[in-house]
Amino acid sequence: MKNPFIFGRAVMGKHFVDREKDIHELRSAMLSGQHVVLFSPRKIGKTSLIKETFRRTEEAICIHLDLWQVTSTYSLGKEIINSVVNETYGSIEKLGRDLKDLFKALRPKISIDMEGHIGVELEKGEEEEVLILKEALNFPENVARKKGVKLIIAFDEFQEIEHLDGLELEKLFRSILQHHENVSYIFAGSERSLINIIFGAKERPFYRFAKHIVLEPIDREVLVRFVVNKFAASGKRIDMDAARWTVEFSEGIPYYVQHICHEVWYMAEKEVKRELVEKVIGERILPGLSSGFEVIWKGIKSEGQRKLLIGIANENQPQIYSQRFIEKYRLKSPGHVRKAIKSLEGVGLIEEDRIWDIFFREWVKQNFYSRI
Ligand SMILES: Nc1ncnc2c1ncn2[C@@H]1O[C@H](COP(=O)(O)OP(=O)(O)OP(=O)(O)O)[C@@H](O)[C@H]1O
Ligand SMILES: [Mg+2]
Repeated sequence: MKNPFIFGRAVMGKHFVDREKDIHELRSAMLSGQHVVLFSPRKIGKTSLIKETFRRTEEAICIHLDLWQVTSTYSLGKEIINSVVNETYGSIEKLGRDLKDLFKALRPKISIDMEGHIGVELEKGEEEEVLILKEALNFPENVARKKGVKLIIAFDEFQEIEHLDGLELEKLFRSILQHHENVSYIFAGSERSLINIIFGAKERPFYRFAKHIVLEPIDREVLVRFVVNKFAASGKRIDMDAARWTVEFSEGIPYYVQHICHEVWYMAEKEVKRELVEKVIGERILPGLSSGFEVIWKGIKSEGQRKLLIGIANENQPQIYSQRFIEKYRLKSPGHVRKAIKSLEGVGLIEEDRIWDIFFREWVKQNFYSRI
């Protein structure tokens, strides 16, 4: 029997649970021509939500673009154009006929790869990078108009544009996309501070450009049923206590639930009890992740930041600015705590005054309490 739990890539269809309200909200916004910023901390399920919503949307042509792998303005432009071509043109002849109407300044060549995917090739002169991107940003609207269809484009990991040419690119995106009438855009991202800067700061071009949707963890009872049913359907059983414990430990974040259950499923003979779940986390999952965590830990050079992480990991509801907490973890002053929090947020380890990665939190807890 195949392992029914999937983690590490976006899930859809029978692997996707809940989120009806989010799907509805996202769909209505998209189809009414509104742009959306979809934010959550890592691993809550943004990409899955987008892909599942797209799977259920037949009224428009939906395109998912991941900016994670984009390394230059040029590759971003190329990626946009080719993804749109791929989803909208089935024949070279048709594309050839439309090409001169779709581009203003560029004259790209049509190409076709081994698998029959149609694309275009763009000559690249250094000074043309921005020109290519401008044309690329206009391309979806031009195609939508030409073909009389509605397009929806998701820029996943949108905060990555900050690593290219941040502010300039924001201005360019905004100045071009604001004129589009046949394309709705979704901007998804997980680094709250960056997304806040891009879409929240008054002086930045994206201010108030889009509707904001914040993705929350999944309802815990729904996840418990998901876990119990997946085990049952695959010929194994998990008892209620173990399923609840797993979901509580995961704080309703589907990634952790799926990851833990994936490992537990392999180890389970027939009936899973809570002891097995704890054993799998302690003896399989955390050891597997520890070399990566060590690298992260060694990268934290400030002693104050390390002590703060240890304190946060070891308290149930840490009052990080309280006298008691500061004394117990020898953190000097609330000012020092605030500064450390800011730095740790900056590198994505802390979110809402908590260590966001539950496994990392557990690893810190298991390894460092005695050192304080
Ligand atoms: N609705 C869902 N139902 C079941 N599992 C889910 C759901 N959403 C997410 N997951 C689980 O969480 C994992 C991470 O999901 P996904 O990649 O969509 O999150 P993300 O927020 O885009 O993450 P990242 O921050 O890394 O981009 C998936 O591989 C899957 O195991
Ligand atoms: Mg994602």
